[in-house]
Amino acid sequence: MSKKIVAVNAGPRKGWNTDMLINEAIKGAKSAGAEVEKFNLFRLERYTGCISCFGCKKEKFKGHCICRDGLTPVLDAIRESDGVIIGSPNYLGDMTASFRALYERLIFQNLTYKAGTPCCNQRRISVLLIMTSNAPDTAYMGLLQNYQNVFNRFVGPTKIFVSGNTLQLKDYSKTDWEWSIFNPEQKKLRHETVFPKECKKVYNLGVELVL
Ligand SMILES: Cc1cc2nc3c(=O)[nH]c(=O)nc-3n(C[C@H](O)[C@H](O)[C@H](O)COP(=O)(O)O)c2cc1C
Repeated sequence: MSKKIVAVNAGPRKGWNTDMLINEAIKGAKSAGAEVEKFNLFRLERYTGCISCFGCKKEKFKGHCICRDGLTPVLDAIRESDGVIIGSPNYLGDMTASFRALYERLIFQNLTYKAGTPCCNQRRISVLLIMTSNAPDTAYMGLLQNYQNVFNRFVGPTKIFVSGNTLQLKDYSKTDWEWSIFNPEQKKLRHETVFPKECKKVYNLGVELVL
């Protein structure tokens, strides 16, 4: 039976850096025989982060967020999956607010307050976490490692992939505001030379998620 992979775009821009990398990972997963379901967090019905109802701590609901909203189908699909691809741009030094909403709900439902068994997810689910940023690849390693540790602990074995110094705009000269802290030529060059290699790497990570 083919493996089920859930892909989640936690960024708003369809077809841009984060989405492109997620799509490459999806292609990789599909090439290895997986079925992939993709969600765009910015296109869902209304949702929130964890509302601290503690419903998921009740014995009969454990491992299940009982809050019903736009994120419910995503959480349900992840619970049934064999692997997850989650991508987010870096916004103000962290993942997006949409990523954080999913993260809170996904992790907290699997977390218990029982000494000795802090995690109640019944199956380990592999995770590929992708982040893109204006800052160079190394700038947010601490942040990413922190997410990696938490995903490792409460979801399953997690790999991280970062694409820094991204091209944020096709033509930086066509806006009526300044982008003078950036070097558009250098960004364009990176997008044309380095980004395609990153796409290949992330494709392979998509393959590895399934094998
Ligand atoms: C609201 C906002 C905040 C941002 N904050 C940061 C930041 O703190 N650090 C950074 O490196 N890039 C920051 N960026 C840039 C994006 O992370 C970067 O351009 C990313 O690759 C965009 O992904 P996308 O092309 O998929 O939309 C910010 C962008 C926006 C719109």
